[in-house]
Amino acid sequence: MSFLNKLFGKTTKEEEIMTEKLNIGIILGSTRQGRLSPQVGEWVKGIADQRGDANYEIVDIADFKLPFLGEADAPGIAAWNEKLAELDGFVFIVQEYNHSITGALKNALDLAREAWNNKAAGIVSYGSTGGARAAEHLRGILGELMIADVRTHPTLSLFTDFENGTVFKPQDLHLDNINLMLDQVNTWSRALKTIR
Ligand SMILES: Cc1cc2nc3c(=O)[nH]c(=O)nc-3n(C[C@H](O)[C@H](O)[C@H](O)COP(=O)(O)O)c2cc1C
Repeated sequence: MSFLNKLFGKTTKEEEIMTEKLNIGIILGSTRQGRLSPQVGEWVKGIADQRGDANYEIVDIADFKLPFLGEADAPGIAAWNEKLAELDGFVFIVQEYNHSITGALKNALDLAREAWNNKAAGIVSYGSTGGARAAEHLRGILGELMIADVRTHPTLSLFTDFENGTVFKPQDLHLDNINLMLDQVNTWSRALKTIR
């Protein structure tokens, strides 16, 4: 079949997936007023866009006005699922709240299922210890949602990457890690697309 496809200049689904640009969502995990996540998300998007290897977009949970699971059937739930379905992979911008992820992110994770499955994700976290504890909690949740989380995990410190804990001034040393994480997210997102 592949010989005939080649002969007649047809491309297979696998060949299309190998060449097309993937859609990667940069998901802001916090929704509180005064949150720092938009600064971090925009910084990651700026680095990602320079690579030109995928379509990167900021996905802000706050825009969807999601109710808590089971409380109401708001239109935001369908819109949230539709947005996730458009995406091939994710970068979670994760902040540490009481040694874990935010309630807003957990609720947003719980409000979809198939739209998460068989996709890849990277994590960029921040907190007093780089948000490491929140990120490790998130990895456990991602396993249940069949999201393959990549190894490289940039960790940002509230003390050394933010001025006065509020204005984001990342150290240069994070740049290589962000790019390595994005390399891994792209490779795994592409691979997983072949089985969806
Ligand atoms: C409810 C709450 C709990 C927090 N708990 C922790 C914590 O356990 N560890 C930590 O490093 N930072 C903690 N912080 C500090 C946050 O990581 C910091 O405020 C960060 O800016 C929050 O992200 P955001 O600005 O995007 O909301 C907490 C902040 C809040 C609001």
